[in-house]
Amino acid sequence: MPDYKNAENLAGVERQLAGYPPLVFAGEARKLKEELAQVAKGQGFLLQGGDCAEAFADFNADKIRDTLRVLLQMAVVLTFGGGMPVVKVGRMAGQFAKPRSAPMERIGEVELPSYRGDIVNGLDFVAEDREPDPARQLQAYSQAAATLNLLRAFTQGGYAALTRVHEWTLGFLDKSPAGERYQDFADAISQALDFMRACGVTDLSTPEITRTTLYTSHEALLLGFEEAMTRIDSTSGRWYDTSAHLVWIGDRTRQLDGAHVEYCRGIANPLGVKAGPTMPVDDLLRLCDVLNPANEPGRLTVIARMGHELVERHLPPLVRALEREGRIVVWTCDPMHGNTVKSSSGYKTRPFERILAEVRSFFAIHRGLGTHAGGIHLEMTGQDVTECTGGAQAITEAALKDRYHTYCDPRLNAQQSLELAFLMAEALKEERQGLRAAS
Ligand code: PEP
Ligand code: CO
Repeated sequence: MPDYKNAENLAGVERQLAGYPPLVFAGEARKLKEELAQVAKGQGFLLQGGDCAEAFADFNADKIRDTLRVLLQMAVVLTFGGGMPVVKVGRMAGQFAKPRSAPMERIGEVELPSYRGDIVNGLDFVAEDREPDPARQLQAYSQAAATLNLLRAFTQGGYAALTRVHEWTLGFLDKSPAGERYQDFADAISQALDFMRACGVTDLSTPEITRTTLYTSHEALLLGFEEAMTRIDSTSGRWYDTSAHLVWIGDRTRQLDGAHVEYCRGIANPLGVKAGPTMPVDDLLRLCDVLNPANEPGRLTVIARMGHELVERHLPPLVRALEREGRIVVWTCDPMHGNTVKSSSGYKTRPFERILAEVRSFFAIHRGLGTHAGGIHLEMTGQDVTECTGGAQAITEAALKDRYHTYCDPRLNAQQSLELAFLMAEALKEERQGLRAAS
């Protein structure tokens, strides 16, 4: 937890937050859990993505819309190409707190507290900025509320209608291979919609054609904030974290006797837990016991973030153990956090081919074990940034400086995200064909 200098200020902010309206309803979180239960049974795919860290200075409607657009495009590719319903969850509207490996950062002779996300302190390497400030939690709340409001308007108000599948393309994607491939998909979807309309299936009979749902999620890291947003749901009588539909426990805070696990086991939201290469099999089994004692499908998603070189060694034992013990989880792949490298130009980056390699291995491992590759967890943006090297644009290390905008980790840009979606759609199709051949 951050070291807040003024405990009274902090308590005041937390009291204020506890009186604010919930950002999401318990009923929505329950609906997400039901959808994730279908994913756990092999009947759906979880697409989770957004910024590594949302930022106060980087808050505007275009940015939110562009990330949503890419998520919608990816979901269409996965649904149409992979033949699976896609559950869409943003790392959005609340992804403000960052875990750090070191509490302090040193530049030359100066040592200051590390940047821990805009909800805690500021990014600039000056003492005033790096001092944790409780008032930032109120700003994070209001940015999350405004972001969620816009997302709800976009997804429920007609923008996400399948009939507009051509309009989600971003200008800079037009001439790219992924963009062209997307246009072909969009044409085929329009044709399918025409056919369905002729058969009497319209947006009146099937509202899913005009509306969709984007759920929200973030790492449950700053426990004072999460606790202030935790309320009893009058329908079920259970505690829900009303700051997001789903929250996850990070790879640095998943200790069985730690505060984050203790907090999360008490809320009824669907949960994620990150599993890096240092996750012992027994710990994951114990985490299932603690976080999902009734073994409810949809309650727990394991987000494997092994790295492209270690995934073959570390993921199969975890999957096998949970299968053996009959533990029902959604397995998803975070191909970002195990593939971070420092480029020669000094930027933190992630080579796109390593990201693809981890995703390919993830699908291959699940196919080999007869389990379902249930989803993907990405740091991505709808902007045309240059933060991860490679992809069809062949972003070089030298080009990283052109549009390197992230506040924390390097994100896939729109084009790289779409390329990845096509690869996953193929893999999902293979999984389904394999299942059909086996039955
Ligand atoms: C993250 O998802 O931003 C993150 C810090 O991941 P991990 O806990 O897996 O390192
Ligand atoms: Co990150």
